[in-house]
Amino acid sequence: HQTPVIAIDGPTASGKGTVAALVAARLGFHLLDSGALYRLAALASVRYGIAPADHEALAALVSDLHITFREGCAQLDGVDVSSEIRAEEVGNRASAIAVHQDVRAALVARQRAFRKEPGLVADGRDMGTVIFPDAVLKVFLTASVEARAARRHKQLIQKGFSASMENLLRDLRDRDERDSNRAVAPLKPAADAKLLDTSSLSIDQAVEEVVGWYRER
Ligand code: C5P
Repeated sequence: HQTPVIAIDGPTASGKGTVAALVAARLGFHLLDSGALYRLAALASVRYGIAPADHEALAALVSDLHITFREGCAQLDGVDVSSEIRAEEVGNRASAIAVHQDVRAALVARQRAFRKEPGLVADGRDMGTVIFPDAVLKVFLTASVEARAARRHKQLIQKGFSASMENLLRDLRDRDERDSNRAVAPLKPAADAKLLDTSSLSIDQAVEEVVGWYRER
């Protein structure tokens, strides 16, 4: 018996983080927010003054990052940075360092270590394609870039960040472009992934769909 994994991949602001967390809560599964790992690495690289292009130094940094996740809080070197890593510039930096093969390789074991009984819901870009190719359910969430920008806008305002729709649309398009076209682990649905377009679905509807697919598989 292999511990079951549900992989939820998709572009920025497709709702995968929220959906993954709710599916995990419904099933009593563990949760891996793999984007948070890339964001923590990005934040650390800023703190240690490592350039986004210096992949060797980045990979070394990532290998001995001191990070912990506790009750929804992400800690770097023992300090809670959960809100800090949600800033757009940290996301953009994460996307810039995520293009490096050696940086990604340095994060593989850390991600797989989240697989524990009774199961794991993992969200990101390459959960179904690279990290957990044997996932029992692979979901690829999509939504129009406008729907995603509107959601991200709401999220950022709620968290007290300032945000303009125009900048968000531009950043989302740039990030999609970079995440989809990179040579290593590009953002694309696994061959056996189920596609779920959330543009006109509520969060609850999306969660129902995923839980339903898991139960009927
Ligand atoms: O999902 P989130 O926006 O938090 O991810 C931040 C960035 O980290 C993404 O734009 C992407 O470049 C990178 N990432 C990745 N692979 C993952 C998760 C995130 O390359 N599995």
